Amino acid sequence: MLYILDSANVEEIRRCMEYFPIDGVTTNPTIISREKRNFLDLIKELRETIGPERMLHIQATAYTAEGMVEEALRLKEIVGGEFYIKIPVSDEGIKATMMLKKLDVKVTETAIFTQPQALLAAKAGADFVAPYVNRLDNIVSDGVSVVSDIVSMFSTHNIESKVLAASFKNVEQVHSVILKGGHAVTITPELCERMLYHPLTVSAISDFDQDWRKVYGDKRILDLI
Ligand code: G3P
Repeated sequence: MLYILDSANVEEIRRCMEYFPIDGVTTNPTIISREKRNFLDLIKELRETIGPERMLHIQATAYTAEGMVEEALRLKEIVGGEFYIKIPVSDEGIKATMMLKKLDVKVTETAIFTQPQALLAAKAGADFVAPYVNRLDNIVSDGVSVVSDIVSMFSTHNIESKVLAASFKNVEQVHSVILKGGHAVTITPELCERMLYHPLTVSAISDFDQDWRKVYGDKRILDLI
């Protein structure tokens, strides 16, 4: 199971990497635009920040399959390491995915809302498919069920593609997707912090400290041994 950060904010990514077991970073044009930075500088800094072994997913912006392939090859050359090109699941996107597989470029098929889209993307060669959980919930569909169906469909048919569930707004959605066998989740740094928080944990830690202080004051273990 992989935890990926859905962010292009270098400071946020640095903080999360220091405190959480993060396997990579996903971006999309919205996330990149939010930073209002020089694109080339930003993607290089993202790679420097996470190192070559963590995944970096960057989305194509071209309208044609040929254009997406060109972008993917240039991006792969620039950022190197564990690079995935994100391709939106359209007819041009599926065509690009088939072309990219022949060129040995890893693909994450994105903006997936249905099980048949996921299957087409997987058959075309996508390494990951990214269903949008919260956006499905927002239209009174059931994002977790869609993820669950895709996971079992891949398992039933021995399909190697993995499910990288995306678009989360709360911890419950993330937890449910993982229970259903989702292989990876991409979450915002804010949600990452929220996954850890529980008021009873905060209170338990505070109680431990107060009880200790009653006997040992400011001294910590290393002061006593
Ligand atoms: O990776 C993009 C996906 O996570 C979309 O998230 O919050 O814009 O629905 P959101």
